[in-house]
Amino acid sequence: MPALGRAAVSAPGPAAPRPFGAPAPAPAPAGEPGAGRRPSRRRLLFALAGVAALTVAPAGGTRAAAATPVPRGPEAPDAASRVDALLARLTLDEKTALLHGGADPDGLGQAGHVPGVPRLGVPALRLADGPAGVRVRKAATALPAPVMLAAAFDPGLARAYGRVIGREGRALGQDVLLSPMVNLIRTPYAGRNFETFSEDPLLSADLVAEEVRGIQAEGLIATVKHLALNNQERDRTTVDVRADARTLHETELRGFEAAVAAGAGAVMAAYNKVDGVHATESRALLTDVLRGRWGFEGWVMSDWDAVHSTGPALTAGCDMEMPAGVHYGAALSRAVRDGLVDEGAVDTAVRRILSVRARFGLLDASAARPVRDPAAGARLAYRVATAGATLLRNERGTLPLTGPAARSIAVVGPTGAVPFVSGGGSAHVVPDAAVSPLDALRARAGAGATVTYALGEDLYGKPLPATGARLEPAFPSGDIGVAAGATWSYEGNLTTTADDDWSFFVHYGGGRRPTVTLDGAELFPVREGVAEYFAGGLVARSADGLDLRRADRRLTAGTHRITVTAHGDAVGLRFRLRAADGTTRAADLAEAVATARAAHSVVLFAYEDATEGRDRTRLALPGGQESLIAAVTAANPRTTVVLNTSSAVTMPWLDATGAVLQMYYPGQEGGPATAAVLFGDADPGGRLTQTFPRSDDAHPTAGDPRRYPGQDGVEEYDEGVHVGHRWYDAQDVAPLFPFGHGLSYTTFAYEDLRVVPAAGGAGLHVTFTVANTGTRAGVEVAQVYAGPSPDLAALGVDQPRRILAGYRRLELAPGERRRVTVPVAARTLSSWDPARDGWVLGTGRREIRVGSSSRALLLRAEARVGA
Ligand code: BGC
Repeated sequence: MPALGRAAVSAPGPAAPRPFGAPAPAPAPAGEPGAGRRPSRRRLLFALAGVAALTVAPAGGTRAAAATPVPRGPEAPDAASRVDALLARLTLDEKTALLHGGADPDGLGQAGHVPGVPRLGVPALRLADGPAGVRVRKAATALPAPVMLAAAFDPGLARAYGRVIGREGRALGQDVLLSPMVNLIRTPYAGRNFETFSEDPLLSADLVAEEVRGIQAEGLIATVKHLALNNQERDRTTVDVRADARTLHETELRGFEAAVAAGAGAVMAAYNKVDGVHATESRALLTDVLRGRWGFEGWVMSDWDAVHSTGPALTAGCDMEMPAGVHYGAALSRAVRDGLVDEGAVDTAVRRILSVRARFGLLDASAARPVRDPAAGARLAYRVATAGATLLRNERGTLPLTGPAARSIAVVGPTGAVPFVSGGGSAHVVPDAAVSPLDALRARAGAGATVTYALGEDLYGKPLPATGARLEPAFPSGDIGVAAGATWSYEGNLTTTADDDWSFFVHYGGGRRPTVTLDGAELFPVREGVAEYFAGGLVARSADGLDLRRADRRLTAGTHRITVTAHGDAVGLRFRLRAADGTTRAADLAEAVATARAAHSVVLFAYEDATEGRDRTRLALPGGQESLIAAVTAANPRTTVVLNTSSAVTMPWLDATGAVLQMYYPGQEGGPATAAVLFGDADPGGRLTQTFPRSDDAHPTAGDPRRYPGQDGVEEYDEGVHVGHRWYDAQDVAPLFPFGHGLSYTTFAYEDLRVVPAAGGAGLHVTFTVANTGTRAGVEVAQVYAGPSPDLAALGVDQPRRILAGYRRLELAPGERRRVTVPVAARTLSSWDPARDGWVLGTGRREIRVGSSSRALLLRAEARVGA
């Protein structure tokens, strides 16, 4: 692969078509005009001559991005000299200690802590996750998952989301937020798809930029992560990702570049390797592209335990090792003393960190902190959850619930009664409070309505032996309390009459997990390290908040030995043992069907519990949920399926449903927001930011292990620039639901498209009218797509059949018509030329389509791009 960016040159050159592949102009030496983000002489000349130059204009296409003003201590004129003075007084060991994390004696259990230098009055730095709210031991606003924020297609909302997290982070004693995550959704299996925004580079770039601005406007330093190509969890610490330079720049890097342009203070280097090199040692990424090309002036920290060396990581541009100093710290001091690493490299890294801290006023222990505003956080969480609610299907007037449908409702499914607040892993947040959808629906339906409930799919198990089996001696069906210092034990025989699939569950709180064995083998072994932590955002907890572990086993008919040993240790323990088998599953299903049949309408909550650290292995809903939906919809076709899933699921049951509402992980206000959308108090404002495939065999990473999950440790992004919806277009594959899809409760018409060159000639202004043709107020997300450049096509450049070029979220009253202009930036219309090491404008007559999804393109025009 060519170097990712080989020079500190930011000006890609003129707009006039010039052979794609022509060599790059000679780089400007560092320190001269042309280095960093300063305009090069060449660019100024073109600008003066009135020729549109493609510059490092913000990657986002729909709004201008100015450098972010930082609220306190902004670039104080004396900041640089203060940092220099501090640097001069720090000893080598003090300096290397500032480059790594360490234990926090008074923290809130946040992910990271860098001790200060008390001798010089430098305070400690606290770093907390994460993408959907501040993750500490204490409660914070649990916001909807970022993928749900993204579904609103609203950069302004992303800024407001960032502001809530920024303020809370500061109020909760934090200085740095380990968020936003902007890795693209490349494969539907990726465990963190809920934590990031989209499969589309432009949308992701717009949103990350605004979220960074919001976070930092409150004085919290944002860390954009994970640079780069950390698009899956499977083998994330070892996989070596290969993507060519065009693919990198046109897809995955767009969001990082936009975050840097928005002023992000920090960047997190990813776990994986990029082109054979650990991301934390990738000079190409961390120095040449990030600092040289984009002019990043903040610091780079490693992902947790992602540093593998001392000198190579530091000199490649990884300034800070987290969460501890294995390779930095004392090892780095030694390397300097032994002459293996130049002290200048240490100074550079320390200067970068101190400079950002100075910029945010975080070199002073006295930096003011706001107080939390939980009510404002909750309001925003609710707003995002309705704005991102995505109505995928709505047949036969199933939604909104009105008349008899609103007066007699059966709620089915575990996430109906237990709110699914956040996904698992580092994006999990302790919410202030969370009302279940069932309670919210009951409250909204009012006293005159009947809202019944059936579990349907058991996540918690039944007391033993309420199954098809016999357990002797009897096991207590209630909670078992084990006093501090005491031990409780049980031995018994479980006798089953048929071969069956069993699930065993232990719920426990207070102390150590009890040891439970089945036929001599431990059912819930404590797994080493982070495996425990990646147990999931939902199924790792019981309905009443105890820790929960599950073990699925196939049992043959006969007698099985069960033992339980529980220690009270120092604090005491409360626990219970539960199980499910074919008998309990059949009873749950029958109860759900009867409940559904007895009601006028059904709202069935289906879930999929994704977490950091683990990819999904199939796109189907887990457990028995497909059968549950089939049985319930057969009993009552007025069924709405509400999906609390991280990403796409396959829906063989789709045609039998009345409606499908995608609610992702909707945060602490998810219950009331779901009720508001179901009842039509809020229009479902979300649109898909990722394509939903029809099957496990029909998506961009299907069928070729080299493409996903990788083979022999190497993964090739050989779909190239055709990520997400672009791949479905390129391959003529029909999606289940296309990118940009989502229904409103009203209808819209599109008219009168006009496309004119933007001032300067390199971009476009796309103007059209959207009319609300229905009788309700509603939300529409108008989308602009651009076809390929004929001039680049003539040069054989592989271009997407259509790119998302812009969009506008609109709220229109009944009958309202709005004339809208969507600007399309020159950068959006450009391709990366590896030979020139820069962007080249895709000139010539290009097709412009406008519509309500990537597959509902209602208006068409052609426009000339470039002179
Ligand atoms: C994750 C990061 C996170 C960090 C600290 C890592 O495992 O990949 O996204 O910020 O842990 O919790």
